[in-house]
Amino acid sequence: MTVRIAPSILSADFARLGEEIAMCSAGGADMIHIDVMDGQFVPNLTFGAKVIETVRKLTTLPLDVHLMVVEPEKYFDTFADAGASILTIHVETSPHLQRQLHRIKEVGCLAGAVVNPATPLEAVREVAVDLDLLLIMSVNPGFGGQRFIPGSVGKVQRARRMLDESGSRAMLEVDGGVGRETIVELCRAGADTFVAGNAIFSAKDPRGEIAMLRRCCPAAA
Ligand code: DX5
Ligand code: ZN
Repeated sequence: MTVRIAPSILSADFARLGEEIAMCSAGGADMIHIDVMDGQFVPNLTFGAKVIETVRKLTTLPLDVHLMVVEPEKYFDTFADAGASILTIHVETSPHLQRQLHRIKEVGCLAGAVVNPATPLEAVREVAVDLDLLLIMSVNPGFGGQRFIPGSVGKVQRARRMLDESGSRAMLEVDGGVGRETIVELCRAGADTFVAGNAIFSAKDPRGEIAMLRRCCPAAA
């Protein structure tokens, strides 16, 4: 099984963004996770197209753009033009999820859906075949460095089963509180793609931590 590590630049030092992105590439990251927050869907504000465009110029790695915004479709065109590779939208703000996912593919990106901790997986079952990526939030979105919600492991297990049953080949990603301990269980539960902010950027050796997280995955050992 392929294991993908996606450092979240929310925890990076923005004054040294170029070096931080170079560190991620040198450490063997598989993609860069970019958290877009609008201060409405979540109680925090982060970046928009300009930062995506900047990161695009700094790396050839895929850009995994996590949209924590209301009316995400407003941004599909500009974010695709800015260089996003994957656009992931929350089911809680996407009432026409199937259409919105197809719209993401039309702008040339891979299409992902996210479920918050309180949102049942049933919300994505009918669109499982339309997904390139399913993201399970293991914290309530808005901030880096929060504590992992333990029940998320069982949810990942159920998500794995749901994707397999529906014949979906979507990546199964987890975001929030992922670190050396949690990644082991998540991997066993069937996740293959791991977002990590605090675990990487607050490590003594952030570059080495990317490889360390990968080594913690039973599948990658
Ligand atoms: C949380 C964001 C995450 C965040 C993860 O709302 O979606 O991507 O950066 O950070 P850690 O790994 O520190 O929990
Ligand atoms: Zn995220």
